[in-house]
Amino acid sequence: MSASTRIILFGASGRMGQEILRVAPSQSGIELVSALVRPGSPLDGEPVWPNRSASLAFGSTLEPELQGEVLVDFSNAASFDAALALALQREMALVSGTTGLSEQQRAELDAAAQRIPVLWSANFSIGVALLRRLVAEAARVLGDEFDVEIIEAHHNRKRDAPSGTALTLGRAVAEARGQDLDDVACYARHGADEARARGEIGFASVRGGDIVGDHTVLFAGDGERMEFVHRAGTRALFARGALLAARWIAGRSAGRYTLDQAVAAPGSGRGC
Ligand SMILES: NC(=O)c1ccc[n+]([C@@H]2O[C@H](COP(=O)([O-])OP(=O)(O)OC[C@H]3O[C@@H](n4cnc5c(N)ncnc54)[C@H](OP(=O)(O)O)[C@@H]3O)[C@@H](O)[C@H]2O)c1
Repeated sequence: MSASTRIILFGASGRMGQEILRVAPSQSGIELVSALVRPGSPLDGEPVWPNRSASLAFGSTLEPELQGEVLVDFSNAASFDAALALALQREMALVSGTTGLSEQQRAELDAAAQRIPVLWSANFSIGVALLRRLVAEAARVLGDEFDVEIIEAHHNRKRDAPSGTALTLGRAVAEARGQDLDDVACYARHGADEARARGEIGFASVRGGDIVGDHTVLFAGDGERMEFVHRAGTRALFARGALLAARWIAGRSAGRYTLDQAVAAPGSGRGC
């Protein structure tokens, strides 16, 4: 393994891809060896950093002679299969933040983890990793005495709803209360003429402007309520978290890993 982690970026033309390209040069231990865009993309063949001496260009295929250690994927659910297939074919670790995956795609991710190291997270922010622990603890203490509603807000071009992070937070609450999220989630109330069921976990999605990502987990009780709020102000935090995960997973054996493991590792500089 080289001193720097050799990274292939999949989805390099997107908002997150561009952010990773922006922050990567300032991250130690990272060497970006390929920036992959969709075949037919106008960026194909263009320089990645036109104002720098580095000669990397966007490409739509991974040259056979290029050796990467980690494929970092921020694309979309429709192209996720191609990213996973590439990681498997070239025996690279996979770090993915792509959301909106189907059940089948999640199962394929599990199967892939038998052959390559895999770390998927709906949110690469360190703050959200901590938020998930805090809401799980609150849910454990409060049980279903308090109604839980999860409200998320994102920019007007986001495709999937509710956000992957909202679902991850919902899952954390459900698991802490001994529930299966699929049994208790309520994704829409329009047209309902029944009161809220006890133990339900409600979701609401707001879409507008350039909101990077806000999540509120509301615990509403009798006469009091608590709100756990996280607001992302910049995509740079997701990019840094994904690169931290990529550095951490390089060289590990096949398996399914979590952002919590990468964040808590000695030398990561974090300990949440
Ligand atoms: N986990 C996290 O922390 C986190 C944070 C933010 C976003 N996300 C998720 O990450 C994903 C990307 O978000 P985004 O805001 O960057 O979306 P985006 O701007 O739509 O970017 C997705 C990019 O993937 C490209 N793409 C599609 N097919 C491809 C292929 N076969 N090969 C290479 N590139 C391909 C698209 O290119 P074209 O436009 O040319 O089709 C597009 O530029 C979404 O699922 C989002 O929800 C996760």
